Amino acid sequence: MKLSDRDKQMLNGMEGQAVQEAMSHLVALGEAFGADEMVKVDSCHLLIDWMLAGDAGLQLYEKFANMKAKLRVHTTVEPIAFDLDRWDEFNLPGEFYEKQKSINLALKKMGAILTCSCQIHFNHNQPKFGDNLAWTEGNATGYANSIVGARGNRESTISSFFAGITGRLPKYGILCDENRQPKIIIEIDRKVADAVSTRGSGTTSSELSLLGMTIGDIAFDKIPAIVGMPKMTNEELKNLFSMCSPALTATLVHLVGITPEAPSLDAAFGGKIPKGIEKKRITLKMLQEARESLSQASTTAVDAILTGCPFKHIYELQEIADLLKDKKVKEGIDFLIFTDRSIMAQAKVNGLQERIERSGARLYQDACPVMFPHRLIHGPNKVFATDSVKMIRLIRGAGKPSWYFGSLVELIDAAQTGKFKVPLRKKGV
Ligand code: F3S
Repeated sequence: MKLSDRDKQMLNGMEGQAVQEAMSHLVALGEAFGADEMVKVDSCHLLIDWMLAGDAGLQLYEKFANMKAKLRVHTTVEPIAFDLDRWDEFNLPGEFYEKQKSINLALKKMGAILTCSCQIHFNHNQPKFGDNLAWTEGNATGYANSIVGARGNRESTISSFFAGITGRLPKYGILCDENRQPKIIIEIDRKVADAVSTRGSGTTSSELSLLGMTIGDIAFDKIPAIVGMPKMTNEELKNLFSMCSPALTATLVHLVGITPEAPSLDAAFGGKIPKGIEKKRITLKMLQEARESLSQASTTAVDAILTGCPFKHIYELQEIADLLKDKKVKEGIDFLIFTDRSIMAQAKVNGLQERIERSGARLYQDACPVMFPHRLIHGPNKVFATDSVKMIRLIRGAGKPSWYFGSLVELIDAAQTGKFKVPLRKKGV
């Protein structure tokens, strides 16, 4: 791999031991992927949850903090397992809090901003066209690649951290022009486009999550070019791109007419659509089958209702507050909503937190509903309901819950009654 003079200096230890160790790992990574060179990294987004990073992650961050390492680019961090201000509500072992605090302290010393958020692309870490990103979060990287035209693979905990320490990353995967071209065309049937864009308040987060899952399951390891996608708000796009972690292997989707590299279908392919390219179509029936495949509980009684994967933005909290108006969550049901600190601050100023929690629902910051220690909090074999496909797919192993998948309207109804009404969907989605 061709290294710049500065890369070589780092590798030779001229910028300290921490930088040398980080660079030697990145060189090995680049060689493993056949990268030709290193590129400048514009921002990093790190995984910091102790439950996921474990003691090994804590030791890594503390070791580099003790070596006085500094993060050279803007660096934000992923959510963690609990709300740092309300962690005692969950009766968790003190170790959770102490170990998380130690990770946070080490990262703060190195210059990370403790955003604890998976929607950093909307505020603290906004990417630009052409930026090279070392981000761990799939939905944020999917948005950055596909809507902004930035470039980023879904990096590992270690590669993203070492990219921050050196400001460099091997040019591999979809950082390279030649790896960004689509390999499949997926047409969104007109009825699907109409259904996802006109269903109205309380339904769009689940519909877009479902459509994202279907796109991801069809494309899987191929970058798709999507034709016929309706115009969407930023929040809707965020929900669509939640498919980028549990379904697609590459975090890039060419939404023709929306993605900067795909103003037209021809342009998505660099000017000429290859002959014989694979083509698929998404119909209402496929979405209906996908929806039915997600709900597998054997009883209609639910124990917990979880929404906020990806984290809810302020307008989505406004929607929930409006839908909850004068309603009460049934005693014994946990209705948990997840967002980040910045949005929580806005929710407080605008009275949304009070309006939401007046119903008995609880709004948490920092905490990811997937990293949340469900087995400790809810116990095993419970029934959960959500509007997020990503949550269902990622959480399955944690306490072996069974699930209902539904819209916000259906979730709120279940929160009031304690039962999920399994809807008959003969027509439409
Ligand atoms: Fe965010 Fe956690 Fe979902 S990080 S996208 S809420 S899995």
